[in-house]
Amino acid sequence: MTAKILDGNALAQKLRADFKTRAEALLASRGTRPGLAVILVGEDPASQVYVRNKVNACAQAGFHSEKISYTADVEAQLVFDRIAELNADPKIHGILVQLPLPKHFDSDAVLKAIAPEKDVDGFHAENVGALMQGHPRFIPCTPYGVMKFLAEAGIDLKGKEAVILGRSNIVGKPMAMLLMQASATVTICHSQTRDLAFHTRRADILVAALGKARFVTAEMVKPGAVVIDVGINRLPDGKLCGDVDFAAVSEVASAITPVPGGVGPMTITMLLANTLEAAEREAR
Ligand code: GUN
Repeated sequence: MTAKILDGNALAQKLRADFKTRAEALLASRGTRPGLAVILVGEDPASQVYVRNKVNACAQAGFHSEKISYTADVEAQLVFDRIAELNADPKIHGILVQLPLPKHFDSDAVLKAIAPEKDVDGFHAENVGALMQGHPRFIPCTPYGVMKFLAEAGIDLKGKEAVILGRSNIVGKPMAMLLMQASATVTICHSQTRDLAFHTRRADILVAALGKARFVTAEMVKPGAVVIDVGINRLPDGKLCGDVDFAAVSEVASAITPVPGGVGPMTITMLLANTLEAAEREAR
């Protein structure tokens, strides 16, 4: 079997064209331009790339955006003060603090300082709770993108075995909630899981989000499974690769996302979706 390749760039482009139209309509009808503030603390090269991509995506969709950068040794209070200003700023509908933060920051406290109505990452404890209760205000962008992929590919999740590798707050945990709410039977595996391959081989839907280059091999995948690769790893030669051995697994799976060009562009697309939604709600 050769898997169908789920093209994140194509789906992202289609959705972003629609968001641009909606943003223009909001500007014309209410004088509101969706606005996103992105806060970056420190000089992590990967975070710098992600933040630049987020700001560029806003510009292309006709959104207002502000990038606010601090050196890693910034006093935390300065960041809290800036978040308070952004919470009150009518030009800003979404606030995102790029993670991870330097070690001297209490990340939970920073995320909690963001007004829940502007928390377009969906990481504020109130929004995490709302997602868990089944009425999300904002769905975290990466798992949201994965759900869009699955919907676009017409994959029925009801009663399916879904296995997630990774238990992070950003991907693994919200991914589990969404798949469960879509009536899949969900297993979360992590670094302490015994016999990982036992679980992965049972998966109809396998989501890899553990951050280890080409960790998922063909032998770990059930023939016909749908494989979603959330990993972005840099190889010694500088090339990017996912958590899945793409070449081998695409011979076994029925559908697979590539890296790059799979989940990555969808994450940023769903950030635009959440920012637009925040602006539309505010203008209602
Ligand atoms: N770092 C890695 N992924 C994300 C994300 O989705 N949002 C934020 N804020 N930081 C991240």
